[in-house]
Amino acid sequence: MSGPHPRRRARSPHTRAQPARHVAYETLRAVHESDAYANLLLPRAIGRAGLAPADAALATELAYGTLRKQGTYDAVIAAAAERSVDRIDPAVLDALRLGAHQLLSTRVASHAAVNESVALAREAAGAGGAGFANAVLRRVSRDTPGEWMARLDAQARSDDERLGLRHAHPVWVLRAFRRALAAEGRADELEALLDADNRSPAVTMAALPGLARIPDAAERTAYSPFGFRLGGGDPEPVIAAAAGAVRVQDEGSQLAALALSRCLPVRAGERWLDLCAGPGGKTAVLAAEALAGGASLEANEPVPARAALVRGSVAGVPLDVPVTEEDGRSRATRSPGRYDRVLVDAPCTGLGALRRRPEARWRKQPSDVAALAALQGELLDAALTALAPGGIVAYVTCSPHLAETAAVVADAARAWDGRVQELDARAVLHGAARHPIDLPTPRDGSGRAQLWPHRHGSDAMSITLLRRDP
Ligand SMILES: C[S@@+](CC[C@H](N)C(=O)[O-])C[C@H]1O[C@@H](n2cnc3c(N)ncnc32)[C@H](O)[C@@H]1O
Repeated sequence: MSGPHPRRRARSPHTRAQPARHVAYETLRAVHESDAYANLLLPRAIGRAGLAPADAALATELAYGTLRKQGTYDAVIAAAAERSVDRIDPAVLDALRLGAHQLLSTRVASHAAVNESVALAREAAGAGGAGFANAVLRRVSRDTPGEWMARLDAQARSDDERLGLRHAHPVWVLRAFRRALAAEGRADELEALLDADNRSPAVTMAALPGLARIPDAAERTAYSPFGFRLGGGDPEPVIAAAAGAVRVQDEGSQLAALALSRCLPVRAGERWLDLCAGPGGKTAVLAAEALAGGASLEANEPVPARAALVRGSVAGVPLDVPVTEEDGRSRATRSPGRYDRVLVDAPCTGLGALRRRPEARWRKQPSDVAALAALQGELLDAALTALAPGGIVAYVTCSPHLAETAAVVADAARAWDGRVQELDARAVLHGAARHPIDLPTPRDGSGRAQLWPHRHGSDAMSITLLRRDP
């Protein structure tokens, strides 16, 4: 194979690759060709292929593992192919990535890793693609993972590029993480964070407070009073038996919703609003808490399909939760002074959830941050407008990037000078949590709470509480 060539579907006399690898490969292709999300696509592809549980687990490991470390595998492939990956047929490149992952990060036997990936390249690009893939993967298999890392280390142009290749993170992302950790005096935790991002998170569940019990056999999570894990068991029967009152939910998301519902005792008759609610995980927690405290809850989500998910998410809570489908900025500003508590779980880069969105780190661009920060600032401002005197906004992002967290809040505090105060979100979480949480005071002295995958086992949620003056 020499340089890029049009994708061909060859009819080959050779055996097709094994089904789990096929499913993993199809997932990589859809992620790269159609901007699909692996976490949505893969379960459907597994179902369509009718994979047995062991094969489903293999397909998941191969697809997620390959996508997570794509940047590092691309550097290896470029070195072995002696050409930039931009000059490799994308369909063959995905077969090479899958092969590199098996050779460098799994115990799959070398010959199987090479042969299966060559079969995929043949199916996608004929004999030329297969020959090229065979040559490149044989070169990759000649050196150990340690030798490849040493070679990439030597090629790196900076310490950060080296760190990025070692831990499979783009340099701009790891620099943003370092700045966010340094803001709480913990820059030395960077490698632990990068490492945590490369591991699949345990499935964490929530038994909605007051509506469901944590199963006796479950292991409780460290912080959320209603979080638990099943220790590898299938969550579906437990979810089905609880009629909507038990769901899969990251512990950080549980804590973010609790930070708003438990920051002050709830007065009966309070009005709450969840402004960016889709798909409704936090809405369900707020609904359970509102029900217990005698408050009412409204939700808003501008994307109709996601608004439908919000309606489904609160179906298990015996509280009427009207869901509007508007831009949150107009939704909040048309109700000035109406709400006692507003959750702004803002659209964000999602850099705090890289564990569960394997392709995200390579898809996001630094330029995404500024556009999102502008929207986040407008949503926060609108939410503050919607507050009744003494009301509270929880501003939450699933990103620790300071431009989406501290900077957005600092801008709002300036714009609302003297009319809002920041509450101590860390103290609120300490009060709500089952065990003490390691939440250092940020160097800017703010009340923001920042959760982390490596420290708390949750997504990296940032939580700020702002109170409008009475
Ligand atoms: C981080 S997600 C919210 C997650 C949700 N709170 C949960 O726990 O399931 C952000 C949501 O904001 C929505 N969104 C995007 N632009 C918006 C806007 N201008 N106003 C309100 N919501 C918006 C997105 O569609 C997305 O569903």
